[in-house]
Amino acid sequence: MSSSGQAGGVPVLVLREGSNRSQGRDTQHGNITAVKIVAESVRSALGPKGMDKMLVDSFGDVTITSDGRTILDEMDIQHPAAKMMLEVAKTQDNEAGDGTTSAVIIAGELLNKAEELIDKNIHPTIIIDGYRKAAEKALDTIEEIAVPVDLKAKDYLKKVAITAMASKLVADYKEYLADLVVKAMLAVAEKQDGTYKADVEDVRVEKKAGESIGATVLINGIVLDKEVVQSGMPKRVENAKIALLDTSLEIEKTEFDAKISIESPDQIEAFLKQEEQMLRTMVDKITQAGANVVICQKGIDDMVQHFLSRKGLLAVRRAKKSDIEMLAKATGARIITKLDDITSADLGYAALVEERKIGDDKMTFVEGCKHPKAVTLLIRGGTQRMISEAERSIHDALCVVRDVIQEPKVVAGGGSPELEMARVLKTYADTLPGREQLAVRAYAEALEAIAITLAENAGLDPIDILSELRSRHEKGEKSAGIEVLTGKVQNMSEMGVFEPITVKKQIIKSATEAASMILKIDDMIAAGKMKAPPTPPGGGGPGGMYPGAGEY
Ligand SMILES: Nc1ncnc2c1ncn2[C@@H]1O[C@H](COP(=O)(O)OP(=O)(O)O)[C@@H](O)[C@H]1O
Ligand SMILES: [Mg+2]
Repeated sequence: MSSSGQAGGVPVLVLREGSNRSQGRDTQHGNITAVKIVAESVRSALGPKGMDKMLVDSFGDVTITSDGRTILDEMDIQHPAAKMMLEVAKTQDNEAGDGTTSAVIIAGELLNKAEELIDKNIHPTIIIDGYRKAAEKALDTIEEIAVPVDLKAKDYLKKVAITAMASKLVADYKEYLADLVVKAMLAVAEKQDGTYKADVEDVRVEKKAGESIGATVLINGIVLDKEVVQSGMPKRVENAKIALLDTSLEIEKTEFDAKISIESPDQIEAFLKQEEQMLRTMVDKITQAGANVVICQKGIDDMVQHFLSRKGLLAVRRAKKSDIEMLAKATGARIITKLDDITSADLGYAALVEERKIGDDKMTFVEGCKHPKAVTLLIRGGTQRMISEAERSIHDALCVVRDVIQEPKVVAGGGSPELEMARVLKTYADTLPGREQLAVRAYAEALEAIAITLAENAGLDPIDILSELRSRHEKGEKSAGIEVLTGKVQNMSEMGVFEPITVKKQIIKSATEAASMILKIDDMIAAGKMKAPPTPPGGGGPGGMYPGAGEY
């Protein structure tokens, strides 16, 4: 540790007082230990037999999850190297949408093995080089073992969705939810010069507590968490011609104080009549255009509600801006900002607009839209926490289905691709010079961590399982993996456990990148604290430096 030097006997201070610096092996060991601790903390969540975590944030809010990224997000990690694991999880989530836990476990294992090599005096640069070569070889191997998928046969899409949800709280409903997820993703997918593009954001998600996850439904349209404004209005309109308004159906209040002096009761009456006439005109404009449904982003005056209701229109007020925009896309409506301009050409179309009671609330369903791409998953569940975890799992499932739609190749799961990559890497290592060979071997062993962890989490003996897996892969059984529901080494393709190639490739990329980045660091300088920030309740503690291991 030195933040100062000597110049002719006079000490020169370079860093602010209170700064902290560590160098060389101290830094490497500190960072690696921190990362290992983080990886350790998500390990028990991997796979269908993995455990859930209950996380309590500084406000006392509870999250129950087995999602790698969510766990790290909620952990409030302080150590800078450990924070990079959160980055790994985020990258993995953004690029592939699944495999976050695996990416963090492999990154941790890569660093664990690197530490052993560093202790044997192998320079980090050699390790980084070896890891890079190993990653390239691993990616080639995945491409080789991957199975091309015909999107018309939806069975693989369903299988990847089931695998993604198998390790989550929603596992009991995985078959049912997988069907919905596949239908939803296929509805929004678009063909673009020979390949398909699909965006998870196009599948809208609404949540409503009540019933169970099994009551989740896919709606062929859009659901508004709003009720019809007035009880006298129809609750159901077929062949809906929808006016979407971004203007209020009220008399605008003047911006400045205006005084109107009224001298006789007649004048009051005339004044009110005039107001009423203005409101009536608004309704006339809407009905003259031919609308039978009004969805308004702003308020609707009581009198307007009354007039609309008398004319048999269904109206919804204070709809979310994002909902209005989505409705415009889905129904082909133009959003009206000035009522004077409204014509029949501005109206959107849906086969049905209907208010339904969902749980304790009423929601408005807009179904059979002009544009068939509009779909909504309405997630149900006993408690808010259950729904949140269901939403995360369904998001994973939507992502893996999207992955396969965009890159139609899958690999078997249960640690089988990792074991196959490891086998290929060990043979490859023999062709390399001494030190790099060790790094490539280390990489192969790090990949085996997935099968080991899946076995451990299922309460099986990882040593027995690993040796059986290795020998079966030696014999050419590329899909041999640990099926944790039966607790046996099985052909994972035959068991129907499949994952998108996109997820597996991204795990290799994110984990290798993070491990290399951390290995490259041999100097860590942390500025002294300027002023102690306010400590959040329950967290914080004395400010200061990061001790070797992660404090989180
Ligand atoms: N029935 C199964 N038997 C064994 N492994 C499985 C099974 N279903 C899924 N898996 C494996 O579980 C792992 C994914 O677990 P998960 O908890 O979702 O972590 P991640 O965040 O990495 O996706 C994958 O390696 C997948 O192959
Ligand atoms: Mg997963």
